[in-house]
Amino acid sequence: MSRPALAEVDLSALRHNYDLACRLSAGGKALPIVKANAYGHGATAVAQALEPLTPAFGVACIEEALELRDSGISKPILLLEGAFSSDEIALAADQDFWLMVGSQHQAAAILDSAPARPIRVWLKIDTGMHRLGVDPQIAKALYQTLMQSPRVAEGIVIATHFACADELDNPFTAEQIRRFDEGTQGIDAPRSLANSAGLLGWPQARGEWNRPGFMLYGGSPFASSHPEGDRLLPVMTLKSAIISIGQVPVGESVGYSSIWTAQRPSRIATVAIGYGDGYPRNTPNGTPVLINGKRAPLAGRVSMDMITVDVTDLPDAAIGDEVTLWGRGLPLNEVATHAGTIGYELITRMPLRTPRKYLDQ
Ligand SMILES: Cc1ncc(COP(=O)(O)O)c(C=O)c1O
Repeated sequence: MSRPALAEVDLSALRHNYDLACRLSAGGKALPIVKANAYGHGATAVAQALEPLTPAFGVACIEEALELRDSGISKPILLLEGAFSSDEIALAADQDFWLMVGSQHQAAAILDSAPARPIRVWLKIDTGMHRLGVDPQIAKALYQTLMQSPRVAEGIVIATHFACADELDNPFTAEQIRRFDEGTQGIDAPRSLANSAGLLGWPQARGEWNRPGFMLYGGSPFASSHPEGDRLLPVMTLKSAIISIGQVPVGESVGYSSIWTAQRPSRIATVAIGYGDGYPRNTPNGTPVLINGKRAPLAGRVSMDMITVDVTDLPDAAIGDEVTLWGRGLPLNEVATHAGTIGYELITRMPLRTPRKYLDQ
């Protein structure tokens, strides 16, 4: 028997979530974002599962796009950070990669390049994120320059990115949409504004192209219940099993730094998963795990390869029992809150060490 720590990836849940993204796109297209190894789920498997359904993919950089080409993905791939050098522009044109133009510097590099064929570009406008994107005041002139260039293919998309769309009562998203509308007046081009939070929570942000990431993997970007966010199904379930059970008397402590001390005669289960497998080290005492579908609290510091769980109230718990760390039955966002982070980070930093097991019912 092999070590039981693994991340199950449910491809039918992924397709369910993508279908929701398509429905919310309301006639527009949903471009799945599969950067960072598809948010930790395995870029190749995720892209292969979605390729028959989607017009194109989005990744951060050319290395990620080339990995998809190497695994046989043939649909166009948008590079969200654009190209970093003229070599990359030429390669992008060859490979049918689309380039986000997020600065005048990137626009100039394309205009000065000599790709073998015209390249598809998306022009990103900075409406308040102040990370990438050109000033709305120059958007129209730059759009026209790009459109007239023989280096640039027809069909430039104009785009922006939201800073606070996960906060439904934050007026800044409406302000970003207003700035986008104002800066793009007179530009007759397809639009792309919405990430997951935009698609799920801001109908006025939907465009001809939408860019869902986190929601595809079943994560709701919102802190509380939301009618659309609640329809998402978890894709990754992080699992392992109990490998040992021991008794700990009152006053004795468990694990590194002795951060948990028994207040009653306790039964402690050791589970084969740790921060080396992607379960965060700073997850505190009391964070729930599921053992045979029942909750039990973490007791003691997370080690590299193991955690310890108080199963005093689960007298049936036994060596070999399955343990769920997050996923089906235990929301990712709930565990992330305990660990002082967001669900995005937990799934995205899943290490290669943890085997991915793909389910497709
Ligand atoms: C430009 C851009 N669009 C879309 C996304 C997807 O965002 P989310 O995962 O919140 O849906 C990202 C992710 O960071 C992004 O950088």
